[in-house]
Amino acid sequence: MKINLKGRSFLTLLDYSPSEIAYLLELSGKLKTIKREGKTHPKLPGKNIVILFEKDSTRTRCAFEVAGYDLGMGVTYLGPSGSQMGKKENIKDTARVLGRMYDGIEYRGFAQETVKILSKYSMVPVWNGLTDLYHPTQILADFLTIQERFGRLKGIKFAYLGDARNNMGNSLMIGSAKMGLDFRAVAPKALWQSNELVERCQEIAKETGAKITLTEDLDEGVRDAEVIYTDVWVSMGESEDAWKERIELLLPYQVNREVMKKAAPNAIFLHCLPAFHNLETIVGKDIYKKFNLEGIEVTEDVFESEQSLVFEEAENRLHSIKAIIFATLGGDL
Ligand code: CP
Ligand code: NVA
Repeated sequence: MKINLKGRSFLTLLDYSPSEIAYLLELSGKLKTIKREGKTHPKLPGKNIVILFEKDSTRTRCAFEVAGYDLGMGVTYLGPSGSQMGKKENIKDTARVLGRMYDGIEYRGFAQETVKILSKYSMVPVWNGLTDLYHPTQILADFLTIQERFGRLKGIKFAYLGDARNNMGNSLMIGSAKMGLDFRAVAPKALWQSNELVERCQEIAKETGAKITLTEDLDEGVRDAEVIYTDVWVSMGESEDAWKERIELLLPYQVNREVMKKAAPNAIFLHCLPAFHNLETIVGKDIYKKFNLEGIEVTEDVFESEQSLVFEEAENRLHSIKAIIFATLGGDL
């Protein structure tokens, strides 16, 4: 059956079927080839999109902007200040205004409820560019990178080390359940995903053949893993005070050489980025002063190793975000 995503929002992978996700990945691959080979790029002329950021971003913002330009569209960026949203105008009114001017809306911020309201009242596709709960566009880039390396997603042994309750832990588990991966959250119990989401993913896994494991046991979690994934230990919007507790809990789960040795010999390392892997950032220096750690969630040697595909993954944000915009605004290849 032909997949048609025209008019759909992209708020969480829970709303997408495995075949729709597979379709978006295939489209991402095709758009990547077109761009890399300099072929005539498909366009959606006459369309305009607005991208709203209440939190900072490099990859997501740039990917939406460049994807928009590549597709021949107009793109408006609204940052944390400079618009009326949230301060003098509520989300529902903002949605109704933007929906009359734009063909699609990207939102990055705090509450998942915000993307839901934007989608309900704007009447145009809304794309979740990260909320506290989910980061679904990132998963498409991650899965495209895995597919490119291993030629498949089904059965891939995928270990996520870190704060499994955050937007990345949640979305990677959902994506893995949908696409049939062998997903392991490897973290202290206090940082596991909510029971409700785990149960939901386990239900999905029964249909897709996925495996969902939550474990505190590092050796068990990373054994034979083909993908080792981590994310920052303190996410945007969290208090700086969280660092102390998070370092105590997560230091045993830092991705370092020893961890990579326990994984499959052909394992790759992925990270959504930005990553704390040396002392070249303000936060990295600060953590070094307070806790004497040179790399935080990942060490420099792993980050810079041959096994690390983090920049391929970052490039894939562009192609996969472009695929979402293109498909939901009615494009077809
Ligand atoms: N991975 C990711 O979303 O990066 P940015 O915060 O730079 O957008
Ligand atoms: N969990 C991270 C992801 C950044 C892309 C955060 O929310 O800050």
